[in-house]
Amino acid sequence: MNIRLLHKDEQPPLDLLLLADPSLKLVNDYVVRGECYVATLQQDIVGVYVLLPTRPETVELVNIAVAEMYHNQGIGKELIKHAIEMAKKQDYKTMEIGTGNSSIGQLALYQKCGFRIAGIDRDFFTRHYEEEIYENGIQCRDMIRLFIDL
Ligand code: ACO
Repeated sequence: MNIRLLHKDEQPPLDLLLLADPSLKLVNDYVVRGECYVATLQQDIVGVYVLLPTRPETVELVNIAVAEMYHNQGIGKELIKHAIEMAKKQDYKTMEIGTGNSSIGQLALYQKCGFRIAGIDRDFFTRHYEEEIYENGIQCRDMIRLFIDL
């Protein structure tokens, strides 16, 4: 597997990006404001993430996604490790990541990669998304904010 920056003349893999965030508006905004990296196997794009500068010395890892047929093969972890290395190279000091209270697998993955919970943005999803979201039989209401020192 190869992980590389998306070329300037390449289309971002919207189908994958939308797996991580159903809002096309937010996805388009992140891709323009951030750096989009893709994981490829042969010529196929199988994973994606975006590094989004937020505050001085802080970057947020947004829109991380792996194509469904490649889930649970370690690609998500590789993408997170790669993102951390890219952020360190650019002298960021903190990386943040946020996910829903119902995203049990993602919360496990991020903590396995060293992220710690920093806070909860209560009712983030009920305020910002029109449709109700359910995962694992739990309504997604709150944004769990996590961070890692680089
Ligand atoms: N309990 C405990 N551990 C879990 C659970 C769970 N319920 N679910 C997953 N995990 C662990 C696995 O055990 C594994 O850890 P291990 O290697 O120690 O066993 C790890 O999480 C999964 O690791 P990977 O195989 O590297 O992950 P994968 O390649 O499947 O990618 C991803 C994970 C990106 C979240 C993928 O499932 C995906 O694309 N989901 C849809 C999009 C999405 O939800 N993206 C995140 C949105 S939030 C954001 O972008 C900031």
